Amino acid sequence: MNIIRVKDYEEMSRQAAAHLYKRMTAGKRMTMGLATGATPERTYDLIIEKAEGDNQSFHHIHTFNLDEYAGLDSSDTNSYRYYMNQRFFNHIDLPKEQTHLPNGMAPDLEEECHRYEDELKQTGGLDVQLLGIGSNGHIGFNEPGTSFSSRTHVVALTKETREANARYFTSMNAVPKHAITMGIETIMEAKEIILLVSGEAKAEAYDRLLSGGVDEFFPASILKKHPNVLLIADEAASRTYAGRTFS
Ligand code: GLP
Repeated sequence: MNIIRVKDYEEMSRQAAAHLYKRMTAGKRMTMGLATGATPERTYDLIIEKAEGDNQSFHHIHTFNLDEYAGLDSSDTNSYRYYMNQRFFNHIDLPKEQTHLPNGMAPDLEEECHRYEDELKQTGGLDVQLLGIGSNGHIGFNEPGTSFSSRTHVVALTKETREANARYFTSMNAVPKHAITMGIETIMEAKEIILLVSGEAKAEAYDRLLSGGVDEFFPASILKKHPNVLLIADEAASRTYAGRTFS
């Protein structure tokens, strides 16, 4: 794992955007795995700014998001499809039909998981995957205890994750109880992974990731077995590590 510690959220986003932009403009057809949440918001802004300045198109790129809530359609402001359109896809020259998210409204969610995996396989698999981390170590919506050999599947969200995401909803009751997420094995097949960790709320997760073992009860720990991970963490997230406090 290649680790870069940066001053703050802005610097983390700049490094991530520069790294991704380089991959996105290498000219080759590529498949990118994308994430939602607060963590990558600024990274997307910065890629948009750069692409606008360079008049860059991304017709050679397909994107696959990590996850989507069950029961929210694309016009729901809390759906990840809505988030991706508003924050990223509507502002870059990338055909919408090349942007993929699981369909949380599919009548048969299990079937939808298979369809999503097949679609991803047909594009040749993930070249690069952008990841955030949940405070309980989840990646995508793979909660603690998820098998490391999981493929795209339906999950019951933990109370902790629903509470963490409740800030976007009108009430805790409105937070979906299920979601579709790429599996851990699906994520691990990406050729390259960029993991962003920012803010004090993630300090414990950062510490556990680096100082703990590889354990299904801390899903992100599997990333230590991946040959090509770039971890970019800001000071607030990475101040404490293995009991030591850094300035
Ligand atoms: C959410 C998402 C994850 C995201 C994580 C952290 O539940 N499903 O993909 O990485 O939690 O979110 P945030 O970046 O808002 O802290």
